[in-house]
Amino acid sequence: MCGIVGYTGYRDAFPVVVKGLKRLEYRGYDSAGIALHNQSLQVYKKMGKVADLEEHVVGKNIAGRTGIGHTRWATHGEPSDRNAHPHLSASGKLAMIHNGIIENYNQLKQELLQKGYQFISDTDTEVLLNFIDEIKENNHCSLEEAVRIALKRVTGAYVILLIEQDNPDTILAARKGSPLVIGVGKGEHFLGSDASPMLEYTKEVVYVNDYELAIIRPDELILKNLGNEVLTPYVQKLDIELAAIEKGGFDHFMLKEIFEQPQTIYDCLRGRLDAQKNKITLSGIEQYAKEICSANRIIMVACGTSWHAGLTAEYIFEECCRINVEVEYASEFRYRNPVIHPGDVIIAISQSGETADTLVAIENAKAKGAIILGVVNVVGSSIARISHAGAYTHAGPEIGVASTKAFTAQLAVLSMMALKIAQLRGTMPAERISYLLSELEEIPGKVQQILNDIAPIQSIAEKYAAARDFLYLGRGYNFPVALEGALKLKEISYIHAEGYPAAEMKHGPIALVDDQLPVVFVATRDSYHEKVISNMQEIKARKGKVIAVVSEGDETAISLSESAMIVPVCDEMLAPLLTVIPLQLLAYYIGVARGCDVDKPRNLAKSVTVE
Ligand code: M6R
Repeated sequence: MCGIVGYTGYRDAFPVVVKGLKRLEYRGYDSAGIALHNQSLQVYKKMGKVADLEEHVVGKNIAGRTGIGHTRWATHGEPSDRNAHPHLSASGKLAMIHNGIIENYNQLKQELLQKGYQFISDTDTEVLLNFIDEIKENNHCSLEEAVRIALKRVTGAYVILLIEQDNPDTILAARKGSPLVIGVGKGEHFLGSDASPMLEYTKEVVYVNDYELAIIRPDELILKNLGNEVLTPYVQKLDIELAAIEKGGFDHFMLKEIFEQPQTIYDCLRGRLDAQKNKITLSGIEQYAKEICSANRIIMVACGTSWHAGLTAEYIFEECCRINVEVEYASEFRYRNPVIHPGDVIIAISQSGETADTLVAIENAKAKGAIILGVVNVVGSSIARISHAGAYTHAGPEIGVASTKAFTAQLAVLSMMALKIAQLRGTMPAERISYLLSELEEIPGKVQQILNDIAPIQSIAEKYAAARDFLYLGRGYNFPVALEGALKLKEISYIHAEGYPAAEMKHGPIALVDDQLPVVFVATRDSYHEKVISNMQEIKARKGKVIAVVSEGDETAISLSESAMIVPVCDEMLAPLLTVIPLQLLAYYIGVARGCDVDKPRNLAKSVTVE
């Protein structure tokens, strides 16, 4: 959570930093602020979005070639001007921004209070900043030395960027547990929580690792560890284009990302799937083939939408690979002292690759001897780097806070993984694998077919936009899709929505049904179809409003639905790749109809880097 940006070079820092902050707003938008070195340190900050900050500085002096900026997702202290970053140290000589949580901040605060320090904000950041300031003043040491000493006392996660009154063109950065990318230009350097703030200036980047500290000047990048050893920065080339992080004519990133799915699924399959040759190339799986084939179980670890992808994959893996699969919320798994044996295979699923709970869960499992396979979207992210092997989802930057294209790309990768493992273990007839591979190849075209006719979904959205609650029901492969549909709706429209296995409805949720309740069935033709049709009848008998995602040509399901969203026919195992699309669109159009900021839903952030 929180986005950080830094710039030092020959350009005016303000526009570079502000543009970068706008690209990182998906990480939090409770407040925004910037500190510039302009003879002295100038700090401007404002509760609200980056646009509010821009308004706030109108008429003010925003010159300066070195600057740091922050967009906040509040943890310690409510969203307010006072709690917004950057913070200024008590001496007035340091300005700092921070992404993460300082867990022992209270202990450090007590020490500083006893020394007479006073605090303006409620943040852990201001405590760490003054802790650094105090060490620097007391020891008469450099800022770099003070930061090194301070960080040895700190528990928690951080990326910090500091600028100093006495060092006009220098930014000091340090990282543990939160992401930090440095862009290397000619006579200039950029910093960001991800690479998006620097894309139009440079494609050369350095991903900073935990416990590393960087001293950055226009012409110099010095990377060290906390033991003061100089490290050689590993400069990588980015292969993202600017267009990938712009709206490209769509009203919202979420809509753009929904419409990108034929391409993103295609990109994910490209070079890996060759249905004609019956071949799946996944080097990560091939590398660990022996261990995966002999594993007793696979554990999927993830959060939110990625967890739903894991749950869908449980059905697919069990069917294809005949192996026991467990699906775990990373936040529960990491604290539970789970039983992990050397050789257990853990699949960590994450769009951002930075979700704190998922990261720590796999760190713990790795320490116990498990093999970690990452299914991650962001290249070079922490989860990708900590995994033994894996497969990127190649969905491109996902900026809308509600995850859409990342989910279908995860499903595509996980389906290929399951089929590959089935081939290796010999657990599924070759003809069935071959059939599923050609079905998988047809998915991008079928998604496009759904997107070609969204008018019915738009009118369903208009009809039900005022509803108070929604129920989503599905069975088998479509049960996790019901959960995902409900999550999408609640996060962007703030309508209360619940997902259930359709048969569970009779065990409680049916009590909610009346003539006001829209009940969304994910009811494509599959092995459970007749049962789901009965469930639809049961809802209708109680006057619930049946909305259903149905297979093309399924007149029974269509006639039972007050409103139907039609998807092309496909094998039931791959149906979630299609059935989720109308649910994403339904949530999107309901959110828009209710006037919600669908790209930046309240209280959420794209990348949950706090526990
Ligand atoms: O980056 P990750 O996939 O690890 O993120 C996990 C969840 O935070 C994420 O899926 C979240 O639930 C989204 N807002 C869902 O749309």
